Amino acid sequence: MKGMKVVRLDKFISKSLGISRKDSKQLILSKRVKVNGKIIQDPSLKVKDKIVEVDGSPIESPEENIYIMLNKPAGFVSSTSDKESTVLDLIDHPRVRELHPVGRLDKDATGLLILTNDGDFTHKVISPKYHVEKEYEVIVEGNPQNALKLLEGVKVGKHFFKALKIEVNGDAIHIVIDEGKYHQVKLMMEAVGLSVRSLKRIRIGGLKLDVEEGKWRELSEEEVRKVMGK
Ligand code: URA
Repeated sequence: MKGMKVVRLDKFISKSLGISRKDSKQLILSKRVKVNGKIIQDPSLKVKDKIVEVDGSPIESPEENIYIMLNKPAGFVSSTSDKESTVLDLIDHPRVRELHPVGRLDKDATGLLILTNDGDFTHKVISPKYHVEKEYEVIVEGNPQNALKLLEGVKVGKHFFKALKIEVNGDAIHIVIDEGKYHQVKLMMEAVGLSVRSLKRIRIGGLKLDVEEGKWRELSEEEVRKVMGK
């Protein structure tokens, strides 16, 4: 196993034992956890290369999280169920069964999809609360200049969708949004009279797509931080 990185004690225990963060905190607060032989009651204590015991038995260091960049081709669903061809079929990694996609790309969409086994990370990337930007390159039928109206925002059903940035280059539109409701970009384009012919995600936060279609690679810790703009 690669060297363990520094993690909070509650995360260390929840990952190692496969229990929730809440249950892990409870164990710590009820004095059932020792670190290097000493009872610790601070769930936020940073641990690395330490002996962590629960009820007197040492527990194993959790495995490193995995973060993968995939350039998704059309025709694969962003899910982990095996009814159809899923994006997991494209990842030849020994721990592929642990992974889930960070948000979705439609079956006919292509481009940057991150896969991970880190649920906290996924939550942060897809939650509108954290404002992680997503950039798409879209080819439409209709006058691409119409897309500029999306800078003012459009109402779609009960939602109000606004683009943070729009660039029109020939028939290609680059659109940046920081949320990701179901079919959001297609719905936004339809709201200004455009029908999407192809949709490719090219950036999430500070991470740009740089592998060929159908290919994947692991991300470094620094790249993972870049996704969140750090
Ligand atoms: N918006 C869409 O409409 N589809 C996607 O796959 C992603 C964003």
